[in-house]
Amino acid sequence: MQTEVLPVSEASLARAAERIRNGEIVGFPTETVYGLGANALCAQAVLRIFEAKGRPADNPLIVHVSSVEEIPPLVRGIPQAARKLMEAFWPGPMTLILPKADCIPNAVSAGLDTVGIRLPSCEAARALIRAAGCPIAAPSANRSGRPSPTTAQHVLEDMDGRIPLILDGGPCQVGLESSVIDATGEVPVILRPGGITPEMVQAVLGGVRVDEHVMSPLHEGEVARSPGMKYKHYAPKAHTVIYAGESGRVVSAICARYDEAVRAGERVAILGFDEHDFGGRTCISLGSEAHPEQAAARLFAALRELDERGETLALCEAVDTAGIGLAVMNRMGRAAAFDIVRV
Ligand code: TXA
Ligand code: MG
Repeated sequence: MQTEVLPVSEASLARAAERIRNGEIVGFPTETVYGLGANALCAQAVLRIFEAKGRPADNPLIVHVSSVEEIPPLVRGIPQAARKLMEAFWPGPMTLILPKADCIPNAVSAGLDTVGIRLPSCEAARALIRAAGCPIAAPSANRSGRPSPTTAQHVLEDMDGRIPLILDGGPCQVGLESSVIDATGEVPVILRPGGITPEMVQAVLGGVRVDEHVMSPLHEGEVARSPGMKYKHYAPKAHTVIYAGESGRVVSAICARYDEAVRAGERVAILGFDEHDFGGRTCISLGSEAHPEQAAARLFAALRELDERGETLALCEAVDTAGIGLAVMNRMGRAAAFDIVRV
């Protein structure tokens, strides 16, 4: 199969929408990461997503809509807390877990009785959903286990020959996947942190819980509330270690480990902030420490770059977990299998 990459335009959106109506899958931009979309109401189309990604069948997909009016037929009721979050943060980088209606195929929900719904802010994404005339089920458009794609080029790297079309809308603004929030219980629970932060949810609902597995690995026999959390994700080929603590000590510790590893014949790269001086050692920038949204936007591209360069060891500066920093540390933590050195 030939994979076409087309810039977003009225004509390319119409082409992509037609493919989706025909039960095919297409790569498309959102404000978080690129998605791999199919008609959410067609089980056969949805199965193609799992095939193209090499995704385990027990990991459910998020259903994307272009307006709130499209949601009622897809769910069995919307709890009050969920309504408040919708009003505050949609369109935007937030997925709400809601009780699913029967029209959602089991292939989408992976057998759960809930479904994740998201109303993206990206204009091209919403235009595609409108033009297709159906809700679009879409996971991140990476091969399973690879970092999520934040450019059309990343999607092509992973999906060339596997899908017919990628819409190129430029780099994603947020750069990390949406916050996944279960607002069906008394206290909303953040299952996956993202651009809508615990602080933001707290401000709207007066309470919030962050799932304990956001910053720790799942142990043998534990059940994940969000099936995606049990899979090894975002792991570059390089052995990845995070350094946390006071900046001066972190920089010294990283430089010492770097030099030792180079002497042992390793290929090493640092993922670090622009404010810090690593003395000319190979460093992939996470942007400014004062602006963690830059680290969010750059992290996945940085992890891909490690692989491209054939690095065998990556030494990463930890990010403060306030605000979107929690989402950055969740993804970085998983890339490093939560190997965090505190100095
Ligand atoms: O930003 C995003 O959410 C992107 C763009 C394309 O919208 N999509 C995305 O999808 O990241 P995916 O499939 O890569 O991640 C979806 C996550 C998985 O961890 C999955 O387990 C969880 O959401 N999830 C989906 N449905 C769920 C449900 N009903 N209950 C709990 N977790 C669910
Ligand atoms: Mg994903």
